[in-house]
Amino acid sequence: MASVPSLASTLHQRITDALSAALPEAGVVDPLLRRSDRADFQANGMLALAKKLKGNPRELATKVVEGLPAGDVIQDVEVSGPGFLNITVADGAITRTLAARAADDRLGVPFKEHPGTTVIDWAQPNVAKEMHVGHLRSAVIGDATVKILEFTGEKVISRHHIGDWGTQFGMLIQYLIEHPHELDHKDGASGEEAMSNLNRLYKAARALFDADAEFKERARRRVVDLQAGDEETLALWQRFVDESKIYFYSVFDKLDMEIRDENVVGESGYNDMLAETCRLLEESRVAVRSEGALCVFFEDVKGPDGNPVPLIVQKSDGGYGYAATDLSAIRDRVQNLEASTLLYVVDARQALHFKMVFETARRIGWLNEDVHAVQLAFGTVLGKDGKPFKTREGETVRLVDLLDEAIDRAGAVVREKARDLTEEEIAERAAQVGIGAVKYADLSTSAARDYKFDLDQMVSLNGDTSVYLQYAFARIQSILRKAGEAGPVAHPELPLAPAERALGLHLDQFAATVAEAAEEYAPHKLAGYLYQLASLYTTFYDQCPVLKAESPELVENRLFLCDLTARTLHRGMALLGIRTPERL
Ligand code: ARG
Repeated sequence: MASVPSLASTLHQRITDALSAALPEAGVVDPLLRRSDRADFQANGMLALAKKLKGNPRELATKVVEGLPAGDVIQDVEVSGPGFLNITVADGAITRTLAARAADDRLGVPFKEHPGTTVIDWAQPNVAKEMHVGHLRSAVIGDATVKILEFTGEKVISRHHIGDWGTQFGMLIQYLIEHPHELDHKDGASGEEAMSNLNRLYKAARALFDADAEFKERARRRVVDLQAGDEETLALWQRFVDESKIYFYSVFDKLDMEIRDENVVGESGYNDMLAETCRLLEESRVAVRSEGALCVFFEDVKGPDGNPVPLIVQKSDGGYGYAATDLSAIRDRVQNLEASTLLYVVDARQALHFKMVFETARRIGWLNEDVHAVQLAFGTVLGKDGKPFKTREGETVRLVDLLDEAIDRAGAVVREKARDLTEEEIAERAAQVGIGAVKYADLSTSAARDYKFDLDQMVSLNGDTSVYLQYAFARIQSILRKAGEAGPVAHPELPLAPAERALGLHLDQFAATVAEAAEEYAPHKLAGYLYQLASLYTTFYDQCPVLKAESPELVENRLFLCDLTARTLHRGMALLGIRTPERL
């Protein structure tokens, strides 16, 4: 099915046409159409235009009104104030447009005209380390962004750039060689067992490393073996990676996210490219040797002492770091995966790193007009006290504990409302509500902002929470079940009540909202839209009886509005990675 133009875009087109007919010399001018409280829409574009051309805005606006085609979309248009147009849309036009959306599986959301290939770097925890709230944000925002982009027809390739390489592995592997049973466990161990083993080993290795100079030296030599590709060393390294993956996958599973093994290409995945990356940078003089290290310098990146701070691509001891890996990953993603966009869902605190890496890639031409890179930078997760989220003892909070607590709290909320749910159903709903709450709290503010992790607020039934949206959806499902014989049927011949019009006009904006969220990598715009949808539905439900409406046609038309609202909520929430249970 072709896309369904929204009433806003139809109006926009008509006014633009009438405006160019009234003032041909002005060319194509944006009439600046927006939703308004006075009427359905207001257009302000005549004002600025007339001022610019030293004409009379009211006169221009009047001419535009005369030029608008009579038809079935505009019910009423008036010139108001200094030269605004107030436009009221015909009830029938609203219902007809919504019927066209309802007839489409995609609710009238078009595919992008020129889809590209986006390689998105998200959910990138570190091997042998506990996941924390920062990894949660990357996972939640990344997952929603993938879903939204895919829905618009973009080809999306995920890359989970896990931290699976570096000098700390020398220490870990050496420790394991000297304490061979430390990673043993029963087959089928849970993710948490895997992590607690790793954690214990990490701490013990670290302690020994700090206390014992000879161990430190053995660990250092082990790094050399690892980098040289020594088989025994690599096999042990692989055990750490595999063990960690058991844990990562258990967390992603809890988060109700699908992470595919083929997309987990960690830092080590680029090892074979590092030397060449450096050679290319040096040959092209994008990077230069400075005190033995291979560096890229930037005019505008200076340290507190005023000296330039370079991006170090290769250390003076020959070692490669984070920058070399990321630059190699760019080459791979551009040249092998044929990306047109590289998107990085990474903590804002890494902004300088990406700025320098992107600029370097631009200088050498790996990034250019055809391929660009964007960091979708997210802010810090704060505790209720507004400080970076820590336990009372000042330790980083384990992600799993947080998620379990969210599920627990959600369980209490579900149980309180549950009348006909079994224990098993309560547990299932608790997970959907709890995880949904955590995701929604993250997605409902713009990524760049810090946000407070407040479980009480997150699972509250009132306010801007996923539970509120999930209840709105479940309530509609219950009405649809109770409707019996009557089903949703659009009746464009019926006049609409104010709450129906408001709901209908908002439903009509779904496609535009999805497009905007995709374009700007802004899932929070979709979240905001859905919250408003649920609020408008609540008002409609309060003011307009559905099953007890005066006539059978009115019942059908209201059921139609209910049904389309539910489908829009369901689709929108799914794009955010949040479940909408049928019953709550
Ligand atoms: N593993 C890193 C961390 O935990 C994030 C990796 C981000 N992606 C990248 N291509 N550098 O901070």
